[in-house]
Amino acid sequence: MHASLQTDSLMHPPAYLEGTIMDRADLDFAHLPFAYQKTDANIRYWFRDGVWSEGELTGDEYISLHMAAVCLHYGQEIFEGLKVFERPDGRIQTFRLVDNALRLQRSARKLLMEPVPEDVFCDAVRRVVRANRRFVPPYGSGASLYVRPYEVGVSAEVGVKPSRDYLFLVFVTPVGPYYKAGFTPVRLKVEEQIDRAAPGGVGDVKAGGNYAAGMRATIACKEEGYSEVLYLDVREKEFIDESGSSNFFAIKGDTFVTPASPSILGSITNMSVQQIARDMGMTVEQRPVEVSELPTFQEAGALGTAAAITPVESITYRSTIYTYGKPGVAGPKTTELYKRLTGIQYGEIEDPYGWTEVIEED
Ligand code: PLP
Ligand code: COI
Repeated sequence: MHASLQTDSLMHPPAYLEGTIMDRADLDFAHLPFAYQKTDANIRYWFRDGVWSEGELTGDEYISLHMAAVCLHYGQEIFEGLKVFERPDGRIQTFRLVDNALRLQRSARKLLMEPVPEDVFCDAVRRVVRANRRFVPPYGSGASLYVRPYEVGVSAEVGVKPSRDYLFLVFVTPVGPYYKAGFTPVRLKVEEQIDRAAPGGVGDVKAGGNYAAGMRATIACKEEGYSEVLYLDVREKEFIDESGSSNFFAIKGDTFVTPASPSILGSITNMSVQQIARDMGMTVEQRPVEVSELPTFQEAGALGTAAAITPVESITYRSTIYTYGKPGVAGPKTTELYKRLTGIQYGEIEDPYGWTEVIEED
């Protein structure tokens, strides 16, 4: 039994051992949901006795952890999200890979975890993407390969203290748009009862616990027909923070406005779009944004890796619905920002910022 399995696997080696571009995976790339899809390989690094192991590529989707691993009961878990795009010339590229590596390090320091070295992070992403080349959605499908690196504390503990040992793992999955309709305006609802993160907490880093904290708000608002909640600052409930899965921006005349707050995630998409807006001649204001400003916006949107730029057509605050532009149609500034951002991400237009990196084949 065992022998025949081995023979079989030698005759059909897993894709990640072949090192060549395989035929494209048999998927309906133009209609992918934002959901987990099994691929050929993930990559794992263990931090034990003070050193990181070499990365191990494996087709195994499961991990074996001690039942008392710190991540399982004290929540030492941090993650990242980035995308890989196929260009019109068939090559594939990452977007702001190093920024994701640095943010994972910031998250690690905040949760007293071992920071993953930048070169380990970048190498892990390149290797796992190459191993899953056949899952990168073709140029023109509108889809991309989502990369999910995460780190967890794996030492067995019962006392509340940081883990000694860690697992850093990167998996990938081909995805379509985060909000089903893609670049189509969504509706948000201001959430006043449930808080996602507080100023002295960990809302400014990408810790799994923040997402657990926000699920009941997001699920409840989806049941009411909204796409996401918009959180307010915890202290005053006067300022806009962000949504559960992305940063927020608004357009006021020729100004791009986005909240500054100690309890929101520093979005790499937002940083990029601010730069693009400046280069379009717009003024950029990153500052506390009062909820009372809702009636003064001409356009609004969500910003994130998964969400890209998603236009917002309305925001419901208490009993008032504030609408932006014509229903179902993205505003002109949002559309231009979207075209420029995704044009760079897909390699359709030149990247003057050095944000993209072509992943060379083995
Ligand atoms: N805010 C939250 C809570 C997020 O989960 C995300 C997604 O990563 C973002 C903002 C956007 O960050 P980025 O643009 O780096 O993906
Ligand atoms: C991302 O945009 O990459 C995120 O991590 C948000 C997540 C809710 C999908």
